[in-house]
Amino acid sequence: MQDRQSIRFLLGSESRELTDVLPTTTVLEYLRTVERMTGTKEGCAEGDCGACTVVVAEDVNGKLRYKACNSCIMFVPFLHGKQLITVEHLKDRNDELHPVQQAMVDQHGSQCGFCTPGFVMSLFGMYHNGCDTSRVAIDDALAGNLCRCTGYAPIVRAARQALDGHLPDQFDHREKQTLRSLSELNAAPSVHLNLSQQSYHAPATVKELKQILKEKPASRIVAGATDVGLWVTKERRHLDCVISVSDIQELQSISIEKGLIRIGAAATIAEAMDTLSSYYPSLDELFRRYGSVQVRNQATIGGNVANGSPIGDSLPVLVALDAKLIISSASGSRTLPAEDYFIDYGKQDLKPGEFLERIDLPLPVEGQQFRVYKLSKRFHQDISAVCGAFSLTLDDGIIQAVRISFGGMAATPRRAFNCEEALVGSPLTDDAIVKGRQALQRDFAPITDFRGTSDYRTRVAGNLLERLFDELSGREQIIVWEADYA
Ligand SMILES: Cc1cc2nc3c(=O)[nH]c(=O)nc-3n(C[C@H](O)[C@H](O)[C@H](O)COP(=O)(O)OP(=O)(O)OC[C@H]3O[C@@H](n4cnc5c(N)ncnc54)[C@H](O)[C@@H]3O)c2cc1C
Ligand code: FES
Ligand code: FES
Repeated sequence: MQDRQSIRFLLGSESRELTDVLPTTTVLEYLRTVERMTGTKEGCAEGDCGACTVVVAEDVNGKLRYKACNSCIMFVPFLHGKQLITVEHLKDRNDELHPVQQAMVDQHGSQCGFCTPGFVMSLFGMYHNGCDTSRVAIDDALAGNLCRCTGYAPIVRAARQALDGHLPDQFDHREKQTLRSLSELNAAPSVHLNLSQQSYHAPATVKELKQILKEKPASRIVAGATDVGLWVTKERRHLDCVISVSDIQELQSISIEKGLIRIGAAATIAEAMDTLSSYYPSLDELFRRYGSVQVRNQATIGGNVANGSPIGDSLPVLVALDAKLIISSASGSRTLPAEDYFIDYGKQDLKPGEFLERIDLPLPVEGQQFRVYKLSKRFHQDISAVCGAFSLTLDDGIIQAVRISFGGMAATPRRAFNCEEALVGSPLTDDAIVKGRQALQRDFAPITDFRGTSDYRTRVAGNLLERLFDELSGREQIIVWEADYA
């Protein structure tokens, strides 16, 4: 098999082959300016509003998996070997509306209509992913779409109508044919585009990735582009050479081996969240609040770590759980405790030519309790002001071992060593909370920014410790958010 020098994908049911597209062209820009398909809208161009939502279908073990994605921060080469479905493709051959469109009409789910194509595509994604019809599930699934005039109640009713009356649609009927077309389009293992302004490489194996990085160590690795996409759309940054890790299956694998949860760096948050939450249930809420369905379908856990933001949600978790990062290059691999990766603001322990290959987390042990709490202004689709992760081993009510890590409290995600020391050997008492709070003030001197003042952050970090104690001692189960109304 040969490498391919073009991007091939299905646009609806028609195939496309692009040889000269600038690799950092967004799918939204391509749709609107090249295909002149203007149903997909641009609202924010940064993954927040959902007006640009499209669905990307791909072959996963012989079945099509449908993912709602934000086309404004997705680069066109990401479509290689996949099917791009937009609002223009939903009507069937008899010009009948798709059930999700009909439900929006029946329930008066649209006024000015600007957000409507995005909502329709999110509903279409839900239609194909078996979303349940509880208010919580629908809110979670639609959290990445904003509407400024209709209000959400009619749209939620539309979701219920469409999901309740679920029947196979034209996409289900054509699944075999689509899979055949995708396999033909995807015949070449890796893609390389060398344009005068920008080059792009999508290796298919880790071996090939190492070789390309050896030859071009200054290249920019791109995974889900939920960070890098914004550098292009918002900061207008030019990237000379882009290496995509999205097509490397080895980097997407998730397995349980030798007492470890092993997560390939290119596994998306959506792919990793079920496994991680099944071992550490407290992660379930954190991941539900991580961006939106669209963001979680694109963002990878490796990208979240590699980016090294002090407010990335997976980082305090990995540090508290003593995860190890497997960092590789053409000259070999090294294993690094997650906490040592973050050197300073914007500075991580990753050398040119290296990439993050895998993250290993230990499975929980007997007596271990793990909790993570995210504080942000909104429940959904908001970046943390403070995120605290706590891993404790208790024996007869006494804390035997503890690792505490916070995001949003320092220039990097960081352990609370003083607090840990103050708590080891203590029972879960009010006295221990007071000592823990005092120690946290020695651990951190947080900054003031638009997400919270220094005082606020210091106070809520202590409150999170108190909440942890309340939950573990059974004094109080704190329910953050429950909404199963209409
Ligand atoms: C609307 C929106 C909401 C968001 N909400 C949240 C949230 O709630 N919580 C949160 O934590 N984050 C959030 N984010 C941030 C973002 O989703 C994450 O940081 C994301 O996980 C990055 O992963 P990615 O695959 O998209 O990385 P990319 O954007 O592709 O890359 C990010 C960085 O990582 C590097 N990189 C990627 N993969 C590798 C690798 N394997 N080896 C070495 N370097 C690599 C890239 O070179 C780049 O520097 C949000 C983003 C958006 C746009
Ligand atoms: S335009 Fe707002 S999410 Fe894409
Ligand atoms: S119908 Fe106007 S923004 Fe939603």
